[in-house]
Amino acid sequence: MTQKLRTQVGIVGSGPAGLLLAHLLPRAGIASIVIDPRTREDIEGTVKAGILESPAVEVLVETGVSTRERVEPMKHDGVEFHFDGHAHRFDFPKLTGKSVYLFPQHEVLKDQIAARIRDGVSPLFGYTAEKVVDGPNGPMIVGKTVAGEEFEIEADFVVGADGSASITREYVTGSKTSGYFREYPFGWYGILVEAPPSSEELIYSRSDEGFVLISTRDENIQRMYFQCDPNMDVNSVSDEQIWDKLQAGVTSELKRGPIFRKDVLKFRSYVHNSLRKNRVLLAGDAAHTVPPTGAKGLNLAVSDVLWANRALREFYRTGSEALLDTYQEDAYKRIWKAAHYSYMMTTMLHLAPEASEFDKQRQIAELYMYTESEAGQKFIAEGYVGWEYGADDWR
Ligand code: PHB
Repeated sequence: MTQKLRTQVGIVGSGPAGLLLAHLLPRAGIASIVIDPRTREDIEGTVKAGILESPAVEVLVETGVSTRERVEPMKHDGVEFHFDGHAHRFDFPKLTGKSVYLFPQHEVLKDQIAARIRDGVSPLFGYTAEKVVDGPNGPMIVGKTVAGEEFEIEADFVVGADGSASITREYVTGSKTSGYFREYPFGWYGILVEAPPSSEELIYSRSDEGFVLISTRDENIQRMYFQCDPNMDVNSVSDEQIWDKLQAGVTSELKRGPIFRKDVLKFRSYVHNSLRKNRVLLAGDAAHTVPPTGAKGLNLAVSDVLWANRALREFYRTGSEALLDTYQEDAYKRIWKAAHYSYMMTTMLHLAPEASEFDKQRQIAELYMYTESEAGQKFIAEGYVGWEYGADDWR
């Protein structure tokens, strides 16, 4: 027997985008159902990076997802760039009046899931969406539960917040892969290490050895990356070689400790060419992917959701589709800014395998231009703390 459900907004994906939308819609009396193939434990246990901009944190705190006490210790007022033997600090509050929060994505998700359960509308875990189709009364999500039972969720709207492997995208764009795409000839080799922090703030470094990022998880666990071949075998370097690569990028002495996780991350930039068809919208990674250098991914998900929330509220309040019609255009503004910023940070700080001496000298000059002038510093800082969120009617 097929399980049949009906809601106003069917949300595919219990990630940061889907859960935020499900949290905001009821504030305007709009019901939703969130589904995800994974278990709650899987979702909360997948350790992922996350830098959240101040306005994104405001949304989470003011709508009761996270507490101010929880987020305050994660506040970062600056980052450092290391290059050409120099260390330069970008002072975010001084340059922009804002800060960022190193709020790992799985921690955001824990708060978001707890908030949905507290509000009495838990996401449906173990529900795998197979496709989105046109039903007699609106779009329908069709799939199977973990027990093998078929389900259909009929909705007024469907929002695909189902990540980079989105199945909702097939409905919207007619294909899994249509869009604007760029690959990079390098990736990151990432480690998790048991050690105290090597730096109070994140260090982004460019040297003739390539890119290095020194980040943190907490007082005892640090996250560090060095630039690598995207097809590199994770086991092909010794711990000693890993430390050499990391240390080559930074001017201060790194605090070492046992490495307990190693992974290779591939980079891509992707913006899908259509974010809406009929009554189906895409948001978050289903709509775009950015390389992690600009720390923009999670924030873009928030931005999309604020636009989608605004358009849906307007529809249910007035019956007007005007804001749904401009959803793509509205969301695209920040998506493309973030696509550019992430591309720029990536190409400025990494060494392309074919880089000539000209390329290297030009790259160093570019870094001096962004660090020596106040206008340059402001430009980098404004992008890092994030541009204004267009849709601010989420309260
Ligand atoms: C991380 O902590 O893993 C991290 C931080 C900043 C980035 C990317 C990753 O830009």
